[in-house]
Amino acid sequence: MNIDLAVTWTEAQHVDLTGRAVVVIDVLRATSTIVAAFHSGARAVIPVDTVEAARAMASRLERGSAVLGGEREGLQIDGFQLGNSPLDYTPEAVAGKTVILTTTNGTRALLAARKADHVVAASLANVSAAAERLHNRDQDVTVICAGTEGRLSLDDLHCGGMLISRLLEPGVVRELSDGARAATEWFVSNAGNAEHVLRSCFHGQRLAALGFAQDIAFCFQIDTTAVVPVWNGHALVLDEVPRAPASAQEATGEGADRV
Ligand code: MLT
Repeated sequence: MNIDLAVTWTEAQHVDLTGRAVVVIDVLRATSTIVAAFHSGARAVIPVDTVEAARAMASRLERGSAVLGGEREGLQIDGFQLGNSPLDYTPEAVAGKTVILTTTNGTRALLAARKADHVVAASLANVSAAAERLHNRDQDVTVICAGTEGRLSLDDLHCGGMLISRLLEPGVVRELSDGARAATEWFVSNAGNAEHVLRSCFHGQRLAALGFAQDIAFCFQIDTTAVVPVWNGHALVLDEVPRAPASAQEATGEGADRV
């Protein structure tokens, strides 16, 4: 198994993902939010590039079947029901619903990953479950860290290194790229310090200044769920759970976007 790691979603745009399994990580906060949404019973999460595209997609889905979530500059978008705080994604808010999500970096990282053979979303909350899924596939892996505004973000690097360290088994040869090695060595040097890493990194400090300290406390918790969102070509879903059509339109294949 060859393991590569891109430190930002913009770097990932220039990497060949053909035939690889990809794990997308945006600990603060998009993939933590996505994992929380599925843990609360969301049916699907559709990552979308722009606010306008998100609104247009919501208008095409059956009323009440979807919620709009996301942020710009960390804050909830006007007219959206939910922000990008994982704490917003309660069962009351999202169970049985499709979440249409647009964020500054995380959803773009997911969109950059779409050409890969297999794409999953991970955060600290599901890092071991995501690693187990990749381990079972026994395929070359690329970790895409979302980063922040085109720069490396230590929250993502830490989680990426933790995930890679869970793929390393004694006696089994894994070929690591420089990025994958750097993340793993960072993680090993900072094991047990996820709280400090998230609170002290640039984006953690910015979120705290915006009043989202509780989100950071949520996001540094490790292995709180076993859900692993998987890209199905249209949306992130939990493919372990057979899904029923969300709407009559979808059941007949008319009108509504496929998820
Ligand atoms: C992003 O996608 O850039 C982040 O999730 C931003 C945030 O913390 O809301």
